[in-house]
Amino acid sequence: MEVFSNIHQDTFERIGQGFCGTVWATTRGGSTCIKREDGGPGRSLNNEYQVQTLINAWMADGTLAGGPSVPSCHHLLEKDDPAWHTSRILDRFPEGYEPCNAMISEKIQPIAEQGRRELIYRYCPPEIQQQILDDRKNQHCLVRPYLGRRRRHAQSNSRCRFFSLRNYSLHMDQVEELSLPFFEYARFMARALALLNWELRIDGNDVEFVLAAPRPGQHLGWESTHIGRHAMWMLDFDCCRPVMESDEGVEQIVRAFWRNDPYCPRPGEMGVDEHLWEAFAEEYRQVGLEVARSRGAADVEEGQKLERLVNRVLERIPETKGVYVKGY
Ligand SMILES: Nc1ncnc2c1ncn2[C@@H]1O[C@H](COP(=O)(O)OP(=O)(O)O)[C@@H](O)[C@H]1O
Ligand SMILES: [Mg+2]
Repeated sequence: MEVFSNIHQDTFERIGQGFCGTVWATTRGGSTCIKREDGGPGRSLNNEYQVQTLINAWMADGTLAGGPSVPSCHHLLEKDDPAWHTSRILDRFPEGYEPCNAMISEKIQPIAEQGRRELIYRYCPPEIQQQILDDRKNQHCLVRPYLGRRRRHAQSNSRCRFFSLRNYSLHMDQVEELSLPFFEYARFMARALALLNWELRIDGNDVEFVLAAPRPGQHLGWESTHIGRHAMWMLDFDCCRPVMESDEGVEQIVRAFWRNDPYCPRPGEMGVDEHLWEAFAEEYRQVGLEVARSRGAADVEEGQKLERLVNRVLERIPETKGVYVKGY
C-alpha cells in the first residue's frame, strides 16, 4: 500500500502521547507519523479521521483559511487490517505491541535545533540543561503558544526539575520576551476556529495549536531570531463534535473555548492581553460573518441567523468567564 511506502523502512519511536493514544514516527525522521488508539476509553480515532478528512478537503493550500496548517491524514488502519502484518507495520514497533486502530498522517516537523537550544538556555534549570540537550526525546519539539496564560512570578523562577521540549508550553510572558508575533498568532487561531465552527460546523473541542517547522516546500510562517522559521499548526481532532446552528450550538462552542488549554487569548484581562482578545474576537467575527454572508446569498434568513449566532459566541465567551471550568 502506497501510504506505507515511506514508513516501513525503519523502526518507530514514540514522539507523542495524549489521552487517545500514542504517536509514533520513524527514527530516521520522515514525513509520516502514526497515531495509535491505545489510550483511554471513549476516544475515537475513527471520529478524528472523519473530522480531519473533512478539514483536509476544505484546505486549498494545506492551511485552514489562510491560518494554521493542518496535517493531511492519509489512512485509517483498523485493528484487524492485514496490512499490520503484510505491510510490516507491526514489526516496526517495539516488542509486545499489538495491532489497534491507528491513523497515518503527515508528521509535523519540529522546531529547528537553534530554536530548541534557545528555549533550553532560557527556560531550563541550568543543572539539567546538558541532560535535556542530549536527550533525543527533546528533538521532537513542538511549542504550544499559550496566549491566554502568563506564568506567575514564582513559577518562572521555579527550580522545577521536569523540563521537556515536547509540547513545550510557551506562556504569554515568554511569547513577549521572545518578541514573537502574538497578534498574528491570535488571528490565526481565530480564523481557524471560526471556520471550523461556521463553515464546517464542528465545535473545535480540545484541538491543539502548536508552533513548529513550516510544511517542507511551503514558505509559510514567521522568521524569529530566537526560535527560527516557524509556522502554526492545528491538530488533534478526536474530541471534536458536530455543532448545531442554534443557541445550543453556541453554548457548545463557548464551553469548548473555556475548557481547552489556554491557547487563545481570553477576555477580561488587562493591557496587551485585552487588546489581544479584541484582535482575536474581531478576526473570529470577520471570518464568521463572511461565512454568514455567503450563506445569505442563497438564503437571506439563514444568513441573518448565522450572523446572530457568530456575534452571540463573542458575547457569551466574556459572559461565561469562570463558568465552564476545564474538566467539568
Ligand atoms: N501529526 C503529528 N505530527 C507530529 N507530532 C504529532 C502529530 N500528531 C500528534 N503529535 C504529537 O503527539 C501528541 C499526542 O497526539 P494527540 O493527537 O494530541 O493525541 P491525543 O488525542 O491522545 O491527545 C501531540 O500533542 C503532539 O505532540
Ligand atoms: Mg492531544
